[in-house]
Amino acid sequence: MVRVHGSLMSIFSVVLAGCPCIGFDDTPYERTEDFTATEEEAEPFEGPDGELLPDACEELCIAEFGTSHIDGPQDLQSCELVSYDPQYTEAYLFECTFVVSPQCIGGRRPAGLASSGTSEGAEPIGRWLAETAHLEAASVPAFDRLAARLSALGAPAALVAAARDAARDEVEHARVMTARARAHGAEPAAVRVDPMPEPDLEHARERELEALAVDNAVEGCVRETWAALVAWVQAEHAEDLALREVFVGIARDETRHAELARSVSTWLEPRLSPRARARVRAARDRAVAELRRTAGRGLPEASRQHLGLPSRAMALALLDGLQPRLWAA
Ligand SMILES: [Fe+2]
Ligand SMILES: [Fe+2]
Repeated sequence: MVRVHGSLMSIFSVVLAGCPCIGFDDTPYERTEDFTATEEEAEPFEGPDGELLPDACEELCIAEFGTSHIDGPQDLQSCELVSYDPQYTEAYLFECTFVVSPQCIGGRRPAGLASSGTSEGAEPIGRWLAETAHLEAASVPAFDRLAARLSALGAPAALVAAARDAARDEVEHARVMTARARAHGAEPAAVRVDPMPEPDLEHARERELEALAVDNAVEGCVRETWAALVAWVQAEHAEDLALREVFVGIARDETRHAELARSVSTWLEPRLSPRARARVRAARDRAVAELRRTAGRGLPEASRQHLGLPSRAMALALLDGLQPRLWAA
């Protein structure tokens, strides 16, 4: 008999009430950009003889990229004046290097995800929607693989069927989010997934069970659970009312997927050795720590509000609420 968890929604309700955000790679990365400034824009950063003050480049870089890529001076690596030519309106050319912390997007990624999903060139809202659409599309093979591995390991038919249903949900999520991204001028990257070797169930069944438990703990019990909670926040707070409706549907589905992850975990747990269980818990705890590092960051305030995403402070408060209820044992 499969134990189906139905308590997640009540946990979410408590966490949300107590509070006043993918295979998208969310590792911070360095980025170098050129930008220009007019004499007028540079003037506040000039000394008495018209020379640029020592921190002019940094200040202008923050003004240029502070609403789209970076949070503040702590993200700056270097900045230098490349050229000055008063013949042009944009007289100054600078080069700035900064660290970008991508907005953490939850959701289940397949092992072997080879596409980053990063969407260049669009405005922040379009970029977020395109990156989310890429992750939704990546969740389809993730659930197909989950269903196949559960079936190969002899899991109950109800769990296998629920994973297949979830794959169908993700097809629809990807379709809806792709349409929203395109409406904002952004095109989601195509999903590429490397082939995985066939599991050796005859000789390495325990290893396969542990690998599935780690994958399910990180991608399901942490990332999809977070995605579900964030979708509920967006369903309530997105300034874009059409997006609110989209997120109500996604939030319901993602909550069911997060409950499936708990059910998969419940089935797997007694089949693991105590050492394997400890390694699964450690992987889960690392995923939670990574979430704490990135959640609520990486988007300009106006874009965050348009999408209804939690602020950094709210994201941390939500994680504080979830941690003891879901990820403490
Ligand atoms: Fe989804
Ligand atoms: Fe999902």
